[in-house]
Amino acid sequence: MVDVILGLQWGDEGKGKIVDYFASQYDIIARFQGGPNAGHTLYVEDKKIVLHQIPSGVFHQQAINLIGNGVVLDPGTLRREADTVSAFGVDLKKNLFISERTHLILPTHRALDKAAEGAKGEGKIGSTLKGIGPAYMDKTGRNGLRVGDLLHKGFIAQYIKLRLKHQKLLDNYNFNEDISAWEEEFFESIEFLKSLNIVNGEYFLNQKISEGKKVLAEGAQGSMLDIDFGTFPFVTSSNTISAGVCNGLGVAPQKIREVIGVSKAYCTRVGGGPFPTELHDEVGEKLRKVGSEFGATTGRPRRCGWMDMVALQYACMLNGVTQIVMTKADVLDAFEELQICTSYKINDKEISEIPFQMAHAPIEPQYKSFKGWNKETSSIKTHEELPVEMKDYIQFINAALGVEVKYVSNGPGRDQIIKV
Ligand code: GDP
Ligand code: IMO
Ligand code: MG
Repeated sequence: MVDVILGLQWGDEGKGKIVDYFASQYDIIARFQGGPNAGHTLYVEDKKIVLHQIPSGVFHQQAINLIGNGVVLDPGTLRREADTVSAFGVDLKKNLFISERTHLILPTHRALDKAAEGAKGEGKIGSTLKGIGPAYMDKTGRNGLRVGDLLHKGFIAQYIKLRLKHQKLLDNYNFNEDISAWEEEFFESIEFLKSLNIVNGEYFLNQKISEGKKVLAEGAQGSMLDIDFGTFPFVTSSNTISAGVCNGLGVAPQKIREVIGVSKAYCTRVGGGPFPTELHDEVGEKLRKVGSEFGATTGRPRRCGWMDMVALQYACMLNGVTQIVMTKADVLDAFEELQICTSYKINDKEISEIPFQMAHAPIEPQYKSFKGWNKETSSIKTHEELPVEMKDYIQFINAALGVEVKYVSNGPGRDQIIKV
């Protein structure tokens, strides 16, 4: 049996905290896509930790963590992260498993990401520059190197062949930065990677499932950044939606039970691309300030705006969401009035579907106003104590989505979550 936790917006919904919260109920926590573009924040012993490659269940002793075949893995990031979690007494040799089919991010993938983004100029995607796009391009282009390749003596020859191919592309971009330090770190780090448990992920996981073990699949990015259904081309390079669980881990669709969608009580986006409910005024500024909306991976200020029901309905449809966790509700404590976008107006026509290309026509979001609760909620522990205005806000979301908000997160801390 597999349950899934994934983001319903443009990423950074608070997935890391929510996976950490639920992890104690599972035997395996598995990342199924994305790479170190992810930044999943959680608090352990009141210390803030941001995970990029290692699944967010790593601080739970009973659970095994799996990096699935659908992930792209940067060995340097993994090694640095291993040092961070080891300081908390976590033994990765025991509780981290990596699929041999997981594709590697090479130093030249990062260089290509940088060169390609630089060449895009104004139209740049705002990539995290972690090499994600080029690594997935080599996967679908059938050139990429995988973790399992590290265990064979032909690896260096394969590496050099691909390195030369990448160099030609870099020359085309006139990219001439020195990446020798990245390469040095890569080769040191693959030795560490080889010392971990490298397994056939699909047999490993299916065997555990047949033994009755419970698996939690952890998504990265968000549904609106999905390569097929997101705001293309301003997306990431993997399938972030629940369908990605099947090909990112090698599990059949019947094995998937709950799909837990995480959404902020408002909305953010980092990087370029359309964002209909974005606020360019002091309200947006206040959301960013109160919500500490700065990227966990790049430190960039996140763009902020109101909740968008058109996008959320779309995400619920694509993912088959069975329950919602609404995060960062406490951030709205300080607002007199709240808005939720209920439809888009494009060229005077009201629509409730995500258009093919959001950037083609100006979208005027149509809003419904809500009275703010205007009181501090971050110390609340029970549903009963929640302000009536927040209950109304949630009730509206439940009705609009046909899926219920089952948990409200009211602070970044591990215990700041309320069952509704
Ligand atoms: P992820 O990528 O989806 O895991 O989310 P990030 O970690 O990138 O961003 C979420 C940020 O919000 C982190 O700084 C979290 O510590 C913080 N956070 C998560 N849940 C809450 C919440 O309910 N309230 C507040 N105030 N902060 C939260
Ligand atoms: P988590 O898992 C928010 C965004 C980037 C950029 C676009 C493409 O923490 O929610 P990429 O590096 O994949 O080439 O970037 O996607 N992006 C994210 N935004 N949260 C993330 O991950 C993101 N990962 C990528 O800002 O716009
Ligand atoms: Mg994040």
